[in-house]
Parts: sequence; structure tokens; C-alpha cells
Amino acid sequence: MRILGIESSCDETAVALVTGKDETLQIEKNLIASQVAIHAKYGGVVPEVAARSHVDAIFPLLLEAGISRDGKGIDAIAVTAGPGLVPALRVGVELAKALAYFWQKPLVAVNHLEGHIYSVWLKGAGGPEGAGGPKFPALALLVSGGHTEIISMKDHGVYELLGMTRDDAAGEAFDKVGKLLGLAYPGGPVVSKCAEQGNPSAIAFPRPMIERGDLDFSFAGLKTAVAVWLKHNPLLPELACPTKPWRSGVEGRAPRPACAYRLRTDRQARGIKIEDVCASFQAAVVEVLVTKTLTAVDRMRPASVILSGGVSANVLLRETLGKTLAEKFLDITYHVPDRALTGDNAAMIAAAGYFQAQKKNFVDPLTLEADPHMRLA
Ligand code: KG4
Ligand code: ZN
Repeated sequence: MRILGIESSCDETAVALVTGKDETLQIEKNLIASQVAIHAKYGGVVPEVAARSHVDAIFPLLLEAGISRDGKGIDAIAVTAGPGLVPALRVGVELAKALAYFWQKPLVAVNHLEGHIYSVWLKGAGGPEGAGGPKFPALALLVSGGHTEIISMKDHGVYELLGMTRDDAAGEAFDKVGKLLGLAYPGGPVVSKCAEQGNPSAIAFPRPMIERGDLDFSFAGLKTAVAVWLKHNPLLPELACPTKPWRSGVEGRAPRPACAYRLRTDRQARGIKIEDVCASFQAAVVEVLVTKTLTAVDRMRPASVILSGGVSANVLLRETLGKTLAEKFLDITYHVPDRALTGDNAAMIAAAGYFQAQKKNFVDPLTLEADPHMRLA
């Protein structure tokens, strides 16, 4: 079964072709037009600007993907219907509705978060070789710019929300701390890159809600703790800006500048530098995420654990969760997406759409509407 996936919920326009057979999915095309450079000057995503950029990008992406004019060879269309920014979502949704109606193809409405979870079903997404996707029951830690959730998955499409953030999402905290430090947008990749050179024990930032037995999170206070620390230790910009850009690790995305993290704090003389701030902050986020996930694993005893969402690109998080699980739970398999599939893409939407299509979970192209608050469970 060949699925056309379409994603436009935030700041990436994406089109993909994925072929599924039984539990195995193969990516044929995975095209992303990133708007990161456009939104960077605003320090965040501007919904109307995002929608206009999706309109500009989506048709050329369909052409680039080599989609035939009559939809020949495509068995179903999967589109992100929510959650996300309404003006942005509507671009993909309206296109998918029109294609499904005129081509007379079945249409699947995919929840963006479900898409992130299904990124680990795409070939090369971790787990034992040849074993298909994660075994059920599975437990997913979903960490993105808008969500931080622990989700139990009993079967394909069967979800239970076990815990979530009460304020900021983990990715949002990275982005806000990046902003506080004057780093490039989005903060996550730059803060984690900067953290590679830092000492994670330099500053004892709080581990919010870590002592509590529940599975909820809170990252707003941690961001404030970084702000307070910085207030007492103001940054002194360094004059020299390095010319070497570093890539985001995602194929086809624009390189992001590294110069901003050359800022230094006035504590440098006393041994604390901006890299240490990043490393100490990152260590706090990762410790909370891993501890809560381990609590959930202990309680639920799943057959597999899934880490997904934009923040799953974070190397420390990927490695620490994998290592801790392997030490404590020998029989649980651990699945993380390829780093190129951690951010928003349409292959993951097609992957989720494939499993829904197996269940004939289709929607009417005449009535489907984008739902900014679409829930998974
Ligand atoms: O899933 P995603 O691409 O978009 C949403 O659905 O929100 O996630 C984007 C988030 C951003 O907050 C970004 O800063 C964060 O993922 N992110 C990271 C890293 N790479 C991306 N956070 C921490 N470390 C990273 N390496
Ligand atoms: Zn996302």
C-alpha cells in the first residue's frame, strides 16, 4: 500500500511517499521545505507567515515528489489534521481534501503526535533488526516544541495519556533558554550543541516535579531558574563570530549559525562559561524526562519504549534513556527515530496513515476540518 503523506501543522511544509507491507514501512520520498530561516527573525513561528509559506511551498513539493496528475499508484492520502496552527494546518488539509475527492482516494486524518510516534515504524528507526515496529503494549515519551507527554499504546491507534506537561513543553523550554542566551532560533539544536562543550554539574538547576510519583512535567520554573541565574551573571558578547556553520542534522534543512553561542558570561574568569549553562540546563531536562519515563515503565511494564518528537534529536536524551532502560529492563526494546525523522516530516504522517488505513479508518473529504486542539487520547 502506497500512502501520500502531507504535513503543514507548524513551520515545515512536507510531502512524502511511503510504502507499507504488513508491519514494515519503506520511505520512497520524504521532502521538507523548512521555514526556520523565515521565522528566525521573529524568534518564533508566526501563524500567518507560516500559512503563506506553506502555500508557496506545497505545490512545488508535490511536483518534486513526482506525484502523477491522476494520483495513479497512490492508495490513500494521509494528512495532519491537528494539533497545530489553524492557518498552517488548513493548507495541507484543504489540499489533501481536494486530491482525495478528485482522485477518489481514501483520506486519513492523522494526529500530528501520532505521526511522531509512528516515526519509529519507518525503516531504520531503531529496535531489533527485522522485527518490524515496536511490540505492544508500548510506552511512548513524546517530546516536541508543543508537547511533552507519556503515552501508553496498547495496539495500533489505541492510546492512553499517562502524563503531560502542566506548562511549557520540553522543546519550548530549550527554545526559551536559547532566547535568554541570545542564541539562534530554534534553541533546542543550538543549546544542545553548545552543551557538548560544557560541564553539566556546573550549576545545580532544579529538577521540577522529579520527586513526585505522578507522570506530569513542568518546565516553566526551570526556564525561570535559568533566567534568574543569568540575571545575576550577565552575558558579555564576544566580538569574534566564527564563520563555520553547523548543520541541524536534518537532511535538506538550512544550516544554522553557531556564532551566537560564542557569548561568554562574566563568570568565565571564575570558571563558568555559557557552555556550562547549556549543559547544566540540558542535564536537568534530561534527568526529569528519563526519571519520569522510568517510573512509567516500572508501573506499566511495556514490551517496548518509544522516544519521539523534535527533542528526541537530543543525543544526551537518546543515549541516557537507552542506557538506563538497558540497565534496568533487559526485556524491553527501545525505539528512537533516525535523527533525520525526529523533526516534523510527512513520512511519519504517512506511516500513521498506513496503519489507520489498514483499519479503514477514513474520513469524508467533504467534511474534514483542521482541528488545532486535536487530542490523541
Ligand atoms: O517535533 P518538532 O519538530 O515540532 C513540534 O511538533 O513542536 O519539535 C521541535 C522542537 C523545538 O522546540 C526544538 O528546539 C526541539 O524540538 N529540538 C531539540 C533538539 N532538536 C530540536 N531540543 C533539544 N535538543 C535538540 N537536539
Ligand atoms: Zn512535531
